[in-house]
Amino acid sequence: MDEIKKEFEEGLKRVKDFEDLKQLKALFLGKKGRVTALFKRLKDLSPEEKKEFGREINELKSYCEKLLDEKSRELFERAKQESIEREAIDITLPARNVNFGGLHPITRTIMEIEDIFRSMGFGVEVGPEIELDLFNFELLNIPKEHPARDMQDTFYINDNVVLRTHTSPTQIRVMKRQKPPVMFISPGRVYRRDSDITHSPMFHQVEGLLVDKDIRFSDLKGVLSGFLKLFFGDVPVRFRPSYFPFTEPSAEVDIGCIICGGKGCRVCSYTGYLEVLGCGMVHPNVLKNGGYDPEKYTGFAFGLGVERFAMLKYGIDNIKLFFENDLRFLEQFSFAKGRLL
Ligand code: FA5
Repeated sequence: MDEIKKEFEEGLKRVKDFEDLKQLKALFLGKKGRVTALFKRLKDLSPEEKKEFGREINELKSYCEKLLDEKSRELFERAKQESIEREAIDITLPARNVNFGGLHPITRTIMEIEDIFRSMGFGVEVGPEIELDLFNFELLNIPKEHPARDMQDTFYINDNVVLRTHTSPTQIRVMKRQKPPVMFISPGRVYRRDSDITHSPMFHQVEGLLVDKDIRFSDLKGVLSGFLKLFFGDVPVRFRPSYFPFTEPSAEVDIGCIICGGKGCRVCSYTGYLEVLGCGMVHPNVLKNGGYDPEKYTGFAFGLGVERFAMLKYGIDNIKLFFENDLRFLEQFSFAKGRLL
């Protein structure tokens, strides 16, 4: 019995987990276990011996059971401790970052432009991106075969339908359905076969039209200068004589390049200025095409490039960044970062 006890104790020292414990129990207390086998030998003994020997076996059995029980509790405690350590939450760690979405810089710029014009009393209209040649060109005083069609490289859907190359067709659409006076802006996407660091095949324009009695070029200059000052603050602005078939006289407006501070860089083609909009007094033919009497009414119109405005406002040196959807770029415009607005 001493030998069995010793072997049991040795075996217990080697127990590492519940599986080992189960095996050890089976080896000593199981049906064919070594302690159980001792009971079978009782039948060969005298009643006195039986009593004495039986008590000793029972003691051994209880001893083994007690140790097994203790070991089992020890293993259970250890497993519990390990799982607590494994699943522990370190409340001293910094919280995980929550990513907030933000408005796209182009959306943000359009909203800002709209706010300024609304504050001056302009309404907001929208026009279709798939447009009739008639509205995109003909009624804007650009007949077929007119050389001015080459000014904008057009995506044709068929002979009569185009992806609009500018927002100017909205001028005709609104005039046709609304009597003068009109005063609105119209933001939206436009398409041209154009691509470099300041030109994109899809970009955004905001059209503007104001028609009433006695509207003069000085009104155009006043409204646009006021708008540019509100949008950019104090930056150099210049009106340059230009040509558009739908306005006469026409001008283009340049803003001092914010990227290089006017010194000259690849964004402004080393001129120190970047063209941001076209404008002019609405051509009498266009007023007529819209159903307005050019003898009674005059007006001005303009069309600005939203990406150019955003590039200058935020110091972005490549128009493609707006459309690559790189989160590292877009995140800089997120509301949550609190960097803008
Ligand atoms: C026009 O599109 C005229 N419809 C504007 C206009 C409206 C003139 C009403 C007079 C009266 P233009 O092609 O210059 O004009 O384009 C206007 C502005 O759009 C440009 O000043 C420029 O800022 C922007 N722009 C032109 N092409 C691109 C392009 N591919 N990518 C990004 N911006 C462009």
